[in-house]
Amino acid sequence: MILKPSNDNIKKAVDAIIKGEIVAFPTETVYGLGGDATNPIAVSKIFEAKDRPSFNPLIVHIANFDQLYDVAVVYDDKVLELVNKFWPGPLTIVLPKKDTIPDIVTAGHETVAVRMPANEIARKLIEFSGKPIAAPSANAFGFLSPTSAQHVEKQLGEKVSIILDGGTSNVGVESTIVEFTSDKIRILRPGGLAIESIEKTIGKVEFQPVTTNTPNAPGMLLHHYAPKVKTLFIDEVDEANFDVSKTAVLAFDRSNNYEKYRFVKVLSETGEMHEAAANLFKHLHSLENENVEVILIEKVPEVGLGIAIMDRLNKASNKYR
Ligand code: TXA
Ligand code: MG
Repeated sequence: MILKPSNDNIKKAVDAIIKGEIVAFPTETVYGLGGDATNPIAVSKIFEAKDRPSFNPLIVHIANFDQLYDVAVVYDDKVLELVNKFWPGPLTIVLPKKDTIPDIVTAGHETVAVRMPANEIARKLIEFSGKPIAAPSANAFGFLSPTSAQHVEKQLGEKVSIILDGGTSNVGVESTIVEFTSDKIRILRPGGLAIESIEKTIGKVEFQPVTTNTPNAPGMLLHHYAPKVKTLFIDEVDEANFDVSKTAVLAFDRSNNYEKYRFVKVLSETGEMHEAAANLFKHLHSLENENVEVILIEKVPEVGLGIAIMDRLNKASNKYR
């Protein structure tokens, strides 16, 4: 059920977390489906509700720095430089894990992914429950990520009894994941914090776009984030092959005119990248609900958050290539 984020309802959600139940809650990136990260039974309910493969580890959400030291080993000054600058916010770091975090959260890996979200409702939920909260995005595995409480209800409404409504997620794409190992710093997933901003703070980091679908590369699946409707890049198809009355277009900006198509959504009228990211899943959710056979998508420039947007669009269209 969708609940307004009143103090009473947040308290209900907190009680559910403490009891080992799972709840959906807003964050500034996308909505999460959370449970007590220290309770393996609670965490197993997350995998079950999402139908998520158990090899795919979860992000642990924290509300303060004490909790960082409870769950992970911080051995590199650059970690602190980065989190001091960008937390709370759309940044996840992967570090060696502590024993407080059970294997089910990390899918058996010796590392844990940690994030301090900025959203006030998320922070209250974590703080008041006194637990780190393991949470993937609150969608069925492989489908579009949710940026509103209604998106969560559409996919998981029958499986989750509490969905805290925090309105629309203002970043709109998932966090950027940065892995620290003894010899390198690597971007595992581009996201809501631009790679350029990370490099300005700690210098050059490795980033290789996804090329495999193997489970030992968590966070880097080739197909993901896919609408239910066939999704293809408009510049990779012959537009003449599509019936305009059964086709939708997701455009980056207003540079091209797609008026002849049945439905057109524009990520940002002026091509502003933060606005485009915030609209990405919202527009894809709305287009997949229309009765169309195909969604043709425009590529976006790969700068700033454009890298994260293209990562999601590539993964969506890979399913249908
Ligand atoms: O913005 C976000 O990050 C959202 C909100 C809810 O916080 N969460 C999110 O979770 O996107 P999820 O589960 O959809 O994506 C988490 C990604 C997965 O691709 C997973 O493989 C990767 O993080 N991951 C988690 N733990 C990892 C680890 N120890 N090593 C490498 N990758 C890890
Ligand atoms: Mg996800």
